[in-house]
Amino acid sequence: MALKITVIGTGYLGATHAAAMAELGFEVLGLDVVPEKIEMLSAGRVPMYEPGLEDLLRKHVAGIEGSSGRLRFTTSWEEIGAFGDVHFVCVNTPQKHGEYACDMSYVESAFDSLAPQLGRAALVVGKSTVPVGSAERLARRLTELAPAGGEVELAWNPEFLREGFAVQDTLHPDRIVVGTGSERAEKVLREVYATPVGEGSPFIVTDFPTAELVKTAANSFLATKISFINAMAEVCEAAGGDVVKLAEAIGYDERIGRKFLRAGIGFGGGCLPKDIRAFMARAGELGADQALTFLREVDSINMRRRGHMVELAREAVGGDSSFLGKRVAVLGATFKPDSDDVRDSPALNVAGQIHLQGGQVTVYDPKGMDNARRLFPTLGYAGSALEAVRGADVVLHLTEWREFRELDPEELGGAVTRRLILDGRNALDPAVWRGAGWTYRAMGRPRA
Ligand code: UDX
Repeated sequence: MALKITVIGTGYLGATHAAAMAELGFEVLGLDVVPEKIEMLSAGRVPMYEPGLEDLLRKHVAGIEGSSGRLRFTTSWEEIGAFGDVHFVCVNTPQKHGEYACDMSYVESAFDSLAPQLGRAALVVGKSTVPVGSAERLARRLTELAPAGGEVELAWNPEFLREGFAVQDTLHPDRIVVGTGSERAEKVLREVYATPVGEGSPFIVTDFPTAELVKTAANSFLATKISFINAMAEVCEAAGGDVVKLAEAIGYDERIGRKFLRAGIGFGGGCLPKDIRAFMARAGELGADQALTFLREVDSINMRRRGHMVELAREAVGGDSSFLGKRVAVLGATFKPDSDDVRDSPALNVAGQIHLQGGQVTVYDPKGMDNARRLFPTLGYAGSALEAVRGADVVLHLTEWREFRELDPEELGGAVTRRLILDGRNALDPAVWRGAGWTYRAMGRPRA
């Protein structure tokens, strides 16, 4: 009989995973402790902007006309326990307030609520990003608390999805990593992932600690790559070089590769910043802190980019100590394009800093306006890029949405006070903007 799957936690990870499991042909029951989320999802609506996700959801949510009916949602742990053969735990592990370590309380409470409902053989699969050592502890806890005892097993199966590509990354993962010591658990997960494995996704079986570490190691490497190129941008600025050309040239070396070498205002979001910090905190607990001291530097190079953009903007509007009386247009609020996520967004951070220093900031973002407003209600917001730049002394391009690359510099030029643009993502074409009479400046590139 086909496996029945539950998904616990319906954020980016869980909502996408649940819809993807239904797409792969399984009966799926998703749970969240927030009833409003369950109502939305049950009506086929996604609580965040993620390309393709709503369509996939509507294709499978029970009760929607023409759907497969394989996907349902609930707030009942009892129902989850009775329904599932495989339970995926997809809850969030945010950074703790005032500490580097991550907050495991959602994971702990998911396991504590699920375990007592497990009265028959089941496989629990952790997907959340957790400090190494968590899986072993959680496995013991499951056996203690589950009525079915040793019949309940745990596997750790980290998730590598990128926001903006969540559906594609979940349906066609570039690798599937499974931490488990049990052949039975491995067999079940091979069945769950038979389709992507059949299409060629590598299936890598490891022990618990390795599976947990793969995730944090991958994100640390990506963060390091971005901070490396941003460090090169600093040197290019000092030496008069061009970091975009430099990245292109070193990227042709296959050992280096061109991806994740875009210099700019750096990385943000709900993953990279908190994952490298939690990794440092955990290494410290394990007595291996020296191994990761370089991540402190990666973090500080990254945070310095935001301050550097503020300084470039200050210099651009007059060079004295404050932004008082200056109008600053900010294009972009999300931490990256094709997402409405503003968590630890470099763009919003820069906008906020300038506002707090007296600048009159007006922000426009294609999808992140509601979230930005909620986080930073005191900033000015406009309904379009053109509206945002009206009367601006300087325009900051801080998130590389396609919409911004397609802007007409001539039209925008008619609305601003001064044709001055700072490209915080090295994503606009300098020749086009300069050709329309703009002063174009970017990070790590020579001034023309
Ligand atoms: C990341 C990982 O890529 C993903 O595998 C993991 O599962 C979760 O964390 P995500 O947070 O969606 O995914 O964003 P990502 O695409 O990695 O970008 C992170 C940040 O780095 C963004 O703010 C982006 O603007 C920035 N970035 C990315 C750069 O500044 N330069 C680059 O070259 C690439």
